[in-house]
This record gives sequence, structure tokens and C-alpha cells, in this order.
Amino acid sequence: MRILAISGSLRASSTNTRLVHAIMRLAPTEIEFLMYEGLGDLPHFTPDLDGDNPPPSVLALRQLLRTTDGVLICTPEYAFGVPGSLKNGLDWTVSSGDFSVKPVAAISASPLWGGGDKAHASLLLTLTALGANILEEGKIIIPMVNKKLDAESNLLDPALVENLQAVFKAFQQSNNQQA
Ligand code: FNR
Repeated sequence: MRILAISGSLRASSTNTRLVHAIMRLAPTEIEFLMYEGLGDLPHFTPDLDGDNPPPSVLALRQLLRTTDGVLICTPEYAFGVPGSLKNGLDWTVSSGDFSVKPVAAISASPLWGGGDKAHASLLLTLTALGANILEEGKIIIPMVNKKLDAESNLLDPALVENLQAVFKAFQQSNNQQA
């Protein structure tokens, strides 16, 4: 099965992007991850651009969503919310319905104690509005992420590794149910 991985951070040395890469390395061979690199290329969402001829970057995102079996999102928190670029990307999928019943793991990570819990709550609300199948095992908040990921993006926290293994299983189960 194929999972689209999205980092909510555009920062070059983003912890969330490194976390996505660590998750991709940890995944069993049956799960192929594709890293979405286009979040920063999407125009600001407006229904005016979302007619019969949406921008190519939007069509590319929708095509990726249509051709993958699930989505994994790792996001930081900015000012108690999800980064605008991530919300913008999600807004582009409202009309296309490409998140509808899609199995999704929603992860937030922060160097602070809160783990981006407010961004996480906001992300869950948005995914609910999109009709996503948010996996229970995939709802993960990671506080003090800098202590759980080393400079080479190795996962240092056995409990987190165990949680992620459960996410992989949940993705596979949802895929088997759809088959
Ligand atoms: C932050 N950060 C932050 N962290 C948090 O837990 N709650 C918050 O509300 C905010 N707000 C915030 C605003 C702005 C403008 C910045 C630059 C940072 C800290 C943030 O979690 C930290 O910089 C992360 O490392 C960002 O994630 P990436 O880019 O490393 O993935």
C-alpha cells in the first residue's frame, strides 16, 4: 500500500520533516511512503481559483491523494494552530473530496511540553470536516521532540517507536478492509 507523507513545516531543517523521514525508514516494506514536497508551491486557497481549471500544483496534490491509500501528517504548532501552509493545502481538498474516508495518521511534534496539542486538535477538526478516516492509533502528540530524534533522525524513544508500529498496523488493517 502507498501512503502520502506530509510535513506541515516548510523549514529547511524541520524536526517534523525529519520525523517523517524517520517514520518512512521505520515502516515495513509492505508500506511505501511518498513524501509530498509541494505544500509551499500551492497558491493561497480561494474558491475563485477552484473552478473548472484549478492550478497545476493543486491538480498534482489531488492526483497524489487519489493514487495513495492513506495519508500521514506530521505538523508543528505555530501560534496555537497548524501552520497556514498546511491548512491551505487541506483547504484545497474540500471541493475535490480527496480526504473523504481516507485513512489518516495525524501527528504533531514540538520541542515544547505541549507537543503541539492545540495544532493537533485543530488538525483533527479540519480532517473531520474533510470526512477523513482518522486512525485512533495515528492520533499522536509528541512533546519534547528534540529528545526523541537525534541529529541523524534516529528515533530515540522506544514508546514512540511502539506507537508508530501500531500506526503501520492500523494503516494495513484499513487497507485490508477496503480490499
Ligand atoms: C513556534 N513554536 C511553537 N511551538 C509550540 O509548541 N506552540 C506554539 O504555539 C508555537 N508557536 C510558534 C510560532 C512561531 C512563529 C515559531 C517560529 C515557532 C515552536 C515550534 O514548535 C518549533 O519552532 C518547531 O521546531 C517547529 O517545527 P519544525 O519546523 O522544526 O518542524
